[in-house]
Parts: sequence; C-alpha cells; structure tokens
Amino acid sequence: MGQYRDNPEALRRLVQHEQVHRDVYLDEEVFALEMERLWSRAWVYVGHDSQVPQAGDFITADIAGQPVIMVRQPDGTVKVLRNRCAHKGARLVSQASGNVGRFFRCPYHAWTYKTDGALLSIPLRQGYEGTSLDACPASQGMGALRHVASYRGFVFARLADDGPAFHAYFGEALTSIDNMADRAPEGELEVAGGVLRYTHDCNWKMFIENLNDTMHPMVAHESSAGTARQLWAGKPQDEPLPMAIEQLVPFTSGYAFSDEMGVRVFANGHSYTGVGTVSLHANYVRMPEYEERMAEVYGVTRAAEILATVRHNTVFYPSLTIKGAIQAIRVVRPVAPGKTIVESWTFRPKGAPEDLLRRTLMYTRLINSPMSVVGHDDLHAYRAMQEGLRAGGNEWVSLHRNFDASEVGQEDTTANGTSEISMRNQFRAWARYMSPEIQSGDKTK
Ligand code: FES
Ligand SMILES: [Fe+2]
Repeated sequence: MGQYRDNPEALRRLVQHEQVHRDVYLDEEVFALEMERLWSRAWVYVGHDSQVPQAGDFITADIAGQPVIMVRQPDGTVKVLRNRCAHKGARLVSQASGNVGRFFRCPYHAWTYKTDGALLSIPLRQGYEGTSLDACPASQGMGALRHVASYRGFVFARLADDGPAFHAYFGEALTSIDNMADRAPEGELEVAGGVLRYTHDCNWKMFIENLNDTMHPMVAHESSAGTARQLWAGKPQDEPLPMAIEQLVPFTSGYAFSDEMGVRVFANGHSYTGVGTVSLHANYVRMPEYEERMAEVYGVTRAAEILATVRHNTVFYPSLTIKGAIQAIRVVRPVAPGKTIVESWTFRPKGAPEDLLRRTLMYTRLINSPMSVVGHDDLHAYRAMQEGLRAGGNEWVSLHRNFDASEVGQEDTTANGTSEISMRNQFRAWARYMSPEIQSGDKTK
C-alpha cells in the first residue's frame, strides 16, 4: 500500500499555502503519481508544426513518460500516435525525427501501420485465422491521441480523456504565444536549427519554478553575467555593444529591476514575468530593417505594440516555457524524481531579417546551452537543491515571499516581480491535479 497513492490526505499535506514538503521533489511514488494524475491530464507540449512540413514527416517525444510520435498526414493534418507496436509493444520509431514514407514498419516482426496509426498488414496473416485477434487491442493499431490541439503551430496533446479543454486550460497565457508569432512579419514561426537536449540532475519542478524566480539572477549569475558587466565597464559610449554583452548584462540587474518586471499568474499554474515595459529583453540594440518590415505589415501602431511586449519567461505549466521576445523555448521532459531532460529550441520568425535568428541563436548558446556560462549557474543550483533537500532537520521548502492570503483562489493576478507567487500558484495547480477526485471540468477538447 502506497504512502501517498492510497492516502489523499497525506498527499494534500505536502502542499501548504506558503511552503511545500521536500517529498514533492524527492519521492518516487509522488513522481509516479505526477505522471499519472498531473502530466497525463494536463495539456503537454509535443512539438512545433514546422518540424513536420511534409506528409510522413515525424518527430518523437514523450508525454508523462510515454513515447509518442507526432506525424504529418497525407491530408495535411498532424496526428499524435502512441509509439508502441500493437504486437508485443516494441517502440516503433527510435529516431528523434525523420520521414516514415507511407507507413510505419515495426523493426521486430514487421507489422505495419498507416500514418494515422491504423494496422495495415501482418506477415503471414493466415496464422491468425480462428484467433481472437480482431476482437483484441492488437488489431486496433498504434492508437492516435484524441486530444490534440495546435495553437499558432505549437502542438499540445492530452493523454487522458478527462481534463479541461485546451483554451480553458491555458487561457490568457496563450497571448505569449501570440506575441512570439506576431513578431514574425508573416505571422508564423518555424523551428530553425537543431535542438540542445540535456539532462538536468534535478526534479522537473525546480526548473519550472526557476523560470519566474527573479530573486536569483543577480546572485546565481554574478560570476558569469557579472564578468560580462565588468568587461564592458568603462568602454566609451559610442563603442558598438557586442550582442553577447547586451544579452548577459541584464542578468546582473538588481532587486528593484526584478520587482518592476512584475509577474502575472493564471489558473492551472501558468505565469509570466515582464508584465509591462521592464524586462531582461527590453533594451536590445534596435534593428531598423526589421522594425520597418513590421510596420509595413501591421501598421505603425500595432507593430510598436507587438514589439513593446517584452515578457521574459512564460510558463505553460507543466511542460513548456517560452521567451517570446527572443523566440526561444525550453521543453521539459521528466524522467525520474531527480532527473529531467530539458530541450532548447530556437525559432525563425518568418519574413524577418536573419539578424533576429542570429540574436536568438546567440542567446541560446550564451544562456541555455550545455556549454553556456549562465545555464551552468542554474544547473548547479538545481543539483544543490536536489542534494541539499536530503539533509535532516527541516523537511520544508519556503515559498513565503510576498504571500498574501487574498491570492489564493485568484485566477489571474499580477504581483511584484520578486514575489514567489508563481511558485505558489504552480503548487496550487499541482495539488488540485494530484488529488484523485479532481474536478477536471470540461471533458471535451
Ligand atoms: S513487436 Fe512489433 S511486430 Fe512484433
Ligand atoms: Fe538563472
């Protein structure tokens, strides 16, 4: 009998308004329940439409630890299939991406499937005559997920049949995807280049919580971003600002800056920092050619509005974080309580000058890549928490900063940037999803 599975009260006790118990990060059973109850019932990011432009193009991913394939159909639609052979369960596709042609073929005994997942053929089919195969799940093929939604090219799926509808789940947080896509003169994004995929030795929530943690950059990144600031200090005013310097230096901004950046939180754990005009991304060198192109397409007022929206990180709880202002995203794939794969993807805004993509790539290399000077600071902090939490004497993690009892139950609220409200908001969503008797609302897509 599980300590938590069969004891909802024990599970509930892990999350208080202002602190959470360390088992939410360390415990194997809690992790298994998260996959089952939270990750299976939430809308999880699979991939971007532009990664599968042609019929038969696919990418593989996982949702709640389960392997899936996102594949373009001959009719142009995108389906998400379970990456499992209906025969003995072999993973059908092991590559990260490719083109399957007209059908999937299992590498084990060559059962084949149409790109919509339906069973196409079985070698020596007559051997199944007189058996119950046709009445069994094996004859149903791979199985396509019923709940798939594409929003401006971002494809999400939900494993469970019950759960909130897509728009109800994300609500106003979707405006961050809108802003990222609107920054393309053609209104569309495409994935550019490959992926930086690496393992973080920490619980997935530590990564997600950090995205709107504005009390850490000036401390954790002091050695990396601080060095950039020192290097640039004293340079003449007219010296052209190198891209690396303009991207690194904002990480050393002080607490007042972080507070001004502000944080907005939504129901279901979503949030973003950079509510107004103050943001780490607000003061990059201007690109006149790009601004002109935007003004031509959108008109001067609308273009200015789009470019003045400079949100820092938006969290689409629990699987996706985006930086709309710099066209980079990170995707979270939990593996174990202390192991998470994080992927970094970069985007080209269609119709924009190549300079924009150069800026995105520079940012990803400097801040998010495995070879980044900044990313390592965070990675060290996550690992330090994962290990430090094993120490006895205090089993709780503090999320007290700027707690205000009136925030509980708020569906859409804004606070000062250094508040830990985004983390508390995530755990409120977490606790609701982890409860076996969750009222998941709308059962339709
Ligand atoms: S496991 Fe796929 S054909 Fe046998
Ligand atoms: Fe950081």
